[in-house]
Amino acid sequence: MAAVRPRNARIPFEIHHDELDADEVINEEDHGSDESRGETQDGDGDGDSECSDESDAHVDPSVQEDMDKFQNTFKGIKERFRLINRIGEGTFSTVYKAEDLLYDHFENDWDPDKENPNLNWCSPPVKRRKTNHPYEDEDDHRQRRQEGPPKKYVAIKKIYATSSPMRILNELELLHDLQNCNSVCPLITAFRNTDQVIAILPYFRHTDFRDYFREFTTSQVRVYFRSLFTALEAVHERRIIHRDIKPTNFLYDSAKERGVLVDFGLAEKEGTECKPCLCQKDSERRRARISNSVAATMGPSNGYPKNDSRPSRRANRAGTRGFRAPEVLFKCTNQTTKLDIWSAGVILLTFLSRRFPFFNSADDVEAMIEIATIFGVQRMKSCAYLHGTVFETNIPTIGKTGFTLEKIIMWSKAVNSLSGEEKLAVAFLERCFELDPNKRISAKEALEHDFLRVDDEEEDEMEIINTPE
Ligand SMILES: Nc1ncnc2c1ncn2[C@@H]1O[C@H](COP(=O)(O)OP(=O)(O)OP(=O)(O)O)[C@@H](O)[C@H]1O
Ligand SMILES: [Mg+2]
Repeated sequence: MAAVRPRNARIPFEIHHDELDADEVINEEDHGSDESRGETQDGDGDGDSECSDESDAHVDPSVQEDMDKFQNTFKGIKERFRLINRIGEGTFSTVYKAEDLLYDHFENDWDPDKENPNLNWCSPPVKRRKTNHPYEDEDDHRQRRQEGPPKKYVAIKKIYATSSPMRILNELELLHDLQNCNSVCPLITAFRNTDQVIAILPYFRHTDFRDYFREFTTSQVRVYFRSLFTALEAVHERRIIHRDIKPTNFLYDSAKERGVLVDFGLAEKEGTECKPCLCQKDSERRRARISNSVAATMGPSNGYPKNDSRPSRRANRAGTRGFRAPEVLFKCTNQTTKLDIWSAGVILLTFLSRRFPFFNSADDVEAMIEIATIFGVQRMKSCAYLHGTVFETNIPTIGKTGFTLEKIIMWSKAVNSLSGEEKLAVAFLERCFELDPNKRISAKEALEHDFLRVDDEEEDEMEIINTPE
């Protein structure tokens, strides 16, 4: 076996192939791919309910068969990892929990347990308890007390071979760029065996969203979002758009009150394949363009051409149903990191309304109708104009002005009033739900918002709590 060497040295990202020592960068043609996730993350298909550690005890025979096949066909994996269970089955990958058998053979500078002054990984401020190591189970602590060093677990993400090589490389490269970012899952390494690529990530114990979102107090929601926005700030600072912010991609351990952002399968650098969009123009020029447009001068048409020969508008729609920002639905050609803020807002609305999934549309048109029902036709029309398109509807239940978010939440919870803390959360939600991405709050600003900000006194208190004796 190779001598000690770093597994995530700060060099351009490389995928280890077949043999442990023969490194090779994947560099193939992009074969193109459809990038939408069909389902809202309501659980049918994500498989995240299997993620609790209790599931280690029971392995379904079909899962065992799948793991055996994987271990027997992926050269060299058996020597490095002991597969424990399947913990997730997504649209683009299967994820397994495994024991890292060769942990001590490497430098592991990704591991916050190692003393590394350069590592910027710490738990977001939480008040309640001393935080434990994120990768360890209760089993580990028991084991450490009894049998010496704890076992180290990893998550092996087996990316389906049908994914385009460019997409796989993009995910790994972005993860590599995000090394050492607070609350973002680090990439340990990756291997390739023929057409199969696997990403090795630290294993994060987490709780199924459906098990806690109804029970969380507003203070707990605040801690959750501090953690999520800490991750988003780091990602957005590097001008990376995650594009798939939803509960199953933010692994949250409700006992330790810390979360980690995963799944950069749809992520992209801001400005990739973008074309000018009206939303980037100053308001005067935009107003002039809109007032001269056919829609504004002729009014709404009574119908649409049967055979419309005009080329259809093309824009990246990647994301999950129910979490897409209005600019994605209106096919804005210059999408920004602000689209992640909208999706985070959808998660917050879910917590506050106690409804999951909150938005449940079958397609983008239905999604627009859902948003229009809340925000009203007028604001929806201005939002469409902002991106150089029109929004028309004759659905009688969609009002001109819509409803306030406070009303929507009170109806959903069947209550007549909200607490002061809830009202502050709603005020924050309004900033995440600005229809105009230019006006929407950024992750950095969000962390300074009264709802998320940690004041000095609180910080001092937390420092005392988190300082080891
Ligand atoms: N590092 C990790 N630690 C623990 N569990 C993980 C880890 N990474 C992923 N998982 C589990 O596997 C699931 C799927 O992972 P991921 O989202 O990366 O794959 P995907 O194929 O892109 O999924 P989807 O299409 O559902 O978004 C996650 O929702 C989570 O439950
Ligand atoms: Mg996912």
